[in-house]
Amino acid sequence: MGRSPRSGQGLPQFLGCFRSLLLPARITPRVLFVYCLIFLATIIFIGIRMHFRTTLSSVLYGMPALSQIASVSAAATADPFRLYTISAENITAKLIPYGARLTSLLVPDRDGNLQDVVVGYDDPKQYLIDTETNHTYFGAVVGRYANRIKNGTFDIGTSVYHIPENENGGEDTLHGGWVGYDQRNWTVTSYTNSSITFSFVDRGLEGFPGDVVTHATFSVQTETTTENPRGLPQLTTKLVSLALTETTPIMLANHIYWNLNAFKDETVLNDTWLQLPLSRRFIGSNGILIPNGTILDVSAYDGATDFTTGKLVGEDIESADGLCGTDCTGYDTCFIVDRPPQYAARNSIVPIVHMNSSTTGISLDVATNQQALQIYSCNGQNGTIPVKQSQIKRNQEEGIDGAEYVNKYGCIVIETEGWIDAINQPQWGQLSDQIYSPETGPAVNWATYQFGTI
Ligand SMILES: *[C@@H]1O[C@H](CO)[C@@H](O)[C@H](O)[C@H]1NC(C)=O
Ligand SMILES: *[C@@H]1O[C@H](CO)[C@@H](O)[C@H](O)[C@H]1NC(C)=O
Ligand SMILES: *[C@@H]1O[C@H](CO)[C@@H](O)[C@H](O)[C@H]1NC(C)=O
Ligand SMILES: *[C@@H]1O[C@H](CO)[C@@H](O)[C@H](O)[C@H]1NC(C)=O
Ligand SMILES: *[C@@H]1O[C@H](CO)[C@@H](O)[C@H](O)[C@H]1NC(C)=O
Ligand SMILES: *[C@@H]1O[C@H](CO)[C@@H](O)[C@H](O)[C@H]1NC(C)=O
Ligand SMILES: *[C@@H]1O[C@H](CO)[C@@H](O)[C@H](O)[C@H]1NC(C)=O
Ligand SMILES: *[C@@H]1O[C@H](CO)[C@@H](O)[C@H](O)[C@H]1NC(C)=O
Ligand SMILES: *[C@@H]1O[C@H](CO)[C@@H](O)[C@H](O)[C@H]1NC(C)=O
Repeated sequence: MGRSPRSGQGLPQFLGCFRSLLLPARITPRVLFVYCLIFLATIIFIGIRMHFRTTLSSVLYGMPALSQIASVSAAATADPFRLYTISAENITAKLIPYGARLTSLLVPDRDGNLQDVVVGYDDPKQYLIDTETNHTYFGAVVGRYANRIKNGTFDIGTSVYHIPENENGGEDTLHGGWVGYDQRNWTVTSYTNSSITFSFVDRGLEGFPGDVVTHATFSVQTETTTENPRGLPQLTTKLVSLALTETTPIMLANHIYWNLNAFKDETVLNDTWLQLPLSRRFIGSNGILIPNGTILDVSAYDGATDFTTGKLVGEDIESADGLCGTDCTGYDTCFIVDRPPQYAARNSIVPIVHMNSSTTGISLDVATNQQALQIYSCNGQNGTIPVKQSQIKRNQEEGIDGAEYVNKYGCIVIETEGWIDAINQPQWGQLSDQIYSPETGPAVNWATYQFGTI
């Protein structure tokens, strides 16, 4: 029947046997027995695989609610752009698995009207397009190592690592490489009406050494606690990473763009007060924002960087010429957090930012366990990304003719993190907060964001 004579004797015999099994002339007890065996083998095989998977995920995630993990994660894997809402009184956050990303945050203004104070898109799918075009990192978790790594190179002990440089024509690695954590489809491992946890297993991605598992937990609450004595609406972010197999740099950060005036003004320069009470020093960098090893006092740049007692964002911005790189005026600066005696414990949570908007009356207080923070004043925006339609609508309903596009200086990014590129500046003494191994404790980036009104 057209079979190749070269296939020999064994194969046609085997195929014939197979065919008679699939299409038996007669159902004999022997055929039934073989069917039962195949059925049993399949069931056992699937069973073992499912069991293995469950065991694996419990090992990886170390979390108790296994059945919940399985069902929630299946949904998340299916759609990285599904919006998850968490809320408490006077605070509602929306997040998506793509980049473990905060896409909106509603808090009341001084009139009790809810405003969205984070920059982003209403349509979650737009974040994928953003990555391919502007690559703003709006609201994402960035990693494995936030900010820039000089020359994409670092040493650990006697090993030299070289990872892909994705910025400035090969001069440095920005936010973890070509495909950083901001582009990863995280797994939702827990979800309640006030908290969500995204998890991600990084198996030596982008050339970094070894496996790292991270749990990013976001929660909101309005209860009075020691950390929140006034019972203000509060967002808490916790990025907990474990080096599983090798010694590696780890420095994750949230990359949230804030706008406390909710785009009722064209920029944040003239209505937004910023205070960095503990930051008398910042990290000096070259024309492409790579640290050059210098630590500067905030009196540099005619005091443009001095936010210790607070001032309007725009007050001295003209003196911040070159501070955000060659031919750039504005802030893109890593401020050091120098802990006062009452917060001397190196990883205790300490208040580092106070910000408020005279337009909406919304205030934000940020506290963190991190040793530094990056402030970026949206110098790179140029009025080409539209403001969320949902916020434009709120502004119109209030009769306010606000911004329709995200303008230059139209927002502020606050990244609580370690001293940037400290892995290449061992003299700074920051390595114990940046290099992790299976033998060290976890890397924990913990921050709280409290909202009030003035
Ligand atoms: C929630 O916000 C409203 C309007 O600003 C305020 O009246 C109320 O006291 C707030 N609730 C809590 C628990 O803070
Ligand atoms: C954002 O992307 C759009 C579409 O590609 C482009 O027109 C615009 O110039 C970009 N804006 C910024 C700030 O990168
Ligand atoms: C940059 O990285 C390349 C490739 O690893 C290396 O050959 C070179 O020496 C590095 N340059 C500096 C200045 O570290
Ligand atoms: C995340 O999911 C989106 C949509 O399926 C996909 O386009 C993207 O490539 C995924 N990201 C990664 C890093 O696999
Ligand atoms: C959240 O869930 C808890 C317990 O399941 C319930 O008591 C509470 O009312 C819920 N809150 C909201 C805002 O839905
Ligand atoms: C900033 O606000 C002050 C006081 O409201 C006002 O006098 C000034 O004209 C404003 N400047 C700009 C550039 O909007
Ligand atoms: C490093 O950069 C700062 C500007 O941020 C500059 O003032 C300083 O002179 C530079 N230091 C070196 C050693 O290049
Ligand atoms: C806003 O914040 C600044 C400090 O950054 C502070 O001086 C000012 O008093 C605050 N405004 C109000 C009305 O609380
Ligand atoms: C806005 O910025 C983006 C990214 O830098 C650039 O591609 C685009 O040409 C700019 N658009 C305008 C109108 O300046």
